Amino acid sequence: MPHVSSLGNYNPVVSVYPDAKVASIDIAQRIASLIRSNHQSGKQTVLGLATGSTPIYVYEELVRLHREEHLRFKDVVSFNLDEYFPMQPDSPHSYVAFMQKHLFDHVDINPDNVYIPDGTHPRESIEDYCRTYEQKIGDLGGIDIQLLGIGRTGHIGFNEPGAEFDSQTRLVELNDLTRTDAAAGFGEKEQVPTEAITMGIDTILKARKIILMAWGKGKAAIIKKMMESDLTPDIPATFLKTCERVELVLDTEAASDLRKE
Ligand code: PGA
Repeated sequence: MPHVSSLGNYNPVVSVYPDAKVASIDIAQRIASLIRSNHQSGKQTVLGLATGSTPIYVYEELVRLHREEHLRFKDVVSFNLDEYFPMQPDSPHSYVAFMQKHLFDHVDINPDNVYIPDGTHPRESIEDYCRTYEQKIGDLGGIDIQLLGIGRTGHIGFNEPGAEFDSQTRLVELNDLTRTDAAAGFGEKEQVPTEAITMGIDTILKARKIILMAWGKGKAAIIKKMMESDLTPDIPATFLKTCERVELVLDTEAASDLRKE
């Protein structure tokens, strides 16, 4: 692994919007433009998708664009960042269920073009499975736009503190704070799985465009930390600063602790 001090450190573009909805509509419109222009040149669009509360408005706007403005998903391929492990796809807690509810059930994407890490894969061959997931992204030409949220631990996907810069898709343990934050959805923390399959930092950084979104005051502290800390596995999102294709899209509250230049 390259030593972190030898990595580039860019100041990512930071776009601040009055609120999450306006920001999300803009992101969805950018995704739609790419899908349309790729379609015109006969190309597929490969999206890297995220779950959690953060991307919900983006999906809402994509569904609206499909319903009202003829945006087609026939030549869209999607790869989700992560899934709990173990997790049955028909569980209401699965990210499969989340994606169906918020996007896939409402657009004309081909189910064969939807990739979400398989929370039912046998543990003994999980490494091979993860390698195949990684390879599939490459075989399809790489991710055009990767959407990201950020956890209060500084995780992106489920790359928790300690994740390495060159990490790839793999089985990981979830951080305690992440499980606490997920507890409400599961009823109680003890019900939240302790592991997950996640794309790695390296997987994410290979995307041609990476948009990290954060909304609300609850994200202000981690956004400040990410922007002001040196690159460190303790705050995995800091590794995004090695890549000039990264953009932070924030609402005013999430941006409120950033130093004004
Ligand atoms: P959230 O989670 O969108 O529910 O805030 C973000 C994340 O953990 O990546």
